[in-house]
Amino acid sequence: PLIGTKEMFARAYKEGYAVGAFNVNNMEIIQGIMEAAQEEKAPLILQVSAGARRYAGQTYIRKLIEAALDETDHPLALHLDHGQDFEICKQCIDGGFSSVMFDGSHLDFEENIAITKQVVEYAHERGVVVEAELGRLAGIEDDVHSEESIYTDPDQAVEFVERTGCDSLAIAIGTSHGAYKFTGEARLDFERLEKISNMLPEFPIVLHGSSSVPQEFVEMANKYGGDIGSAKGVPEDLLRKAATYGVCKINIDTDIRLAMTATIRKHFAENPSHFDPRQYLKPARQAVKDMVQHKIKHVLGCSNKI
Ligand code: G3H
Ligand code: 13P
Ligand code: ZN
Repeated sequence: PLIGTKEMFARAYKEGYAVGAFNVNNMEIIQGIMEAAQEEKAPLILQVSAGARRYAGQTYIRKLIEAALDETDHPLALHLDHGQDFEICKQCIDGGFSSVMFDGSHLDFEENIAITKQVVEYAHERGVVVEAELGRLAGIEDDVHSEESIYTDPDQAVEFVERTGCDSLAIAIGTSHGAYKFTGEARLDFERLEKISNMLPEFPIVLHGSSSVPQEFVEMANKYGGDIGSAKGVPEDLLRKAATYGVCKINIDTDIRLAMTATIRKHFAENPSHFDPRQYLKPARQAVKDMVQHKIKHVLGCSNKI
């Protein structure tokens, strides 16, 4: 069944683990994630970005997720990732999503509050939960990690949550999107996280940009003709620690891309005669499953939590 995230987060908060929110773009990704979550009996969020809607088409992506819901009785939340404006959030709420994100992190404080509030009002009337964002993560475009100055301000976070009524809040404490998160040592601002978490008791915090960029995939991709250089992600122990400070949702996309691509590159190198997509998409799907299962068990800590 399709569910919201309220109970999911309440339990995660209480028990000190996090729920994985995985970005989905095609059938193999959805199937790989579903298999892992089912085997682990893990709470699950599948999230769809604007890019995913453009790539697969809104109807295809929704129907693929419906297929996942039809095939199993595994509960999952369907979430809009990085909704850019009220309209896209409204479309997804009307289209059956159980959770949406309004990402006003690029707006000024008051404007972010105003639109978040508007989304919250529309969503709550329809039983849908809302994630908002305060502070700004460096994008992959920037290829640099966030500056201190755009990390989330704890006092503003409290005011933001009170005034908007949002159900969860994405904050900036040093993570960033993409495969190149750190040039030097990987570091998150735990002091800030702890402060925000203490000032917002029982309130679920969200971490974007939380792929770990497993070096086995980077090395595999590079060994078999890739060129993804010195990619670096958030170390797993830092994510585990974050989950004990009120972080209830951890977003992962890049690691799915890396797992699939490294596996396909290896497959092509070892099987130059193969041209049936099923031959290389099958191991790619398996690699997504194995990676997600590892996260659930050893990073998020959410096995057997449904
Ligand atoms: O936050 C970004 C996610 O990784 C989604 O990426 O917009 O390329 O689908 P995308
Ligand atoms: P990664 O690029 O670290 O996987 O982050 C994904 C994300 O935050 C999706 O919203
Ligand atoms: Zn994100």
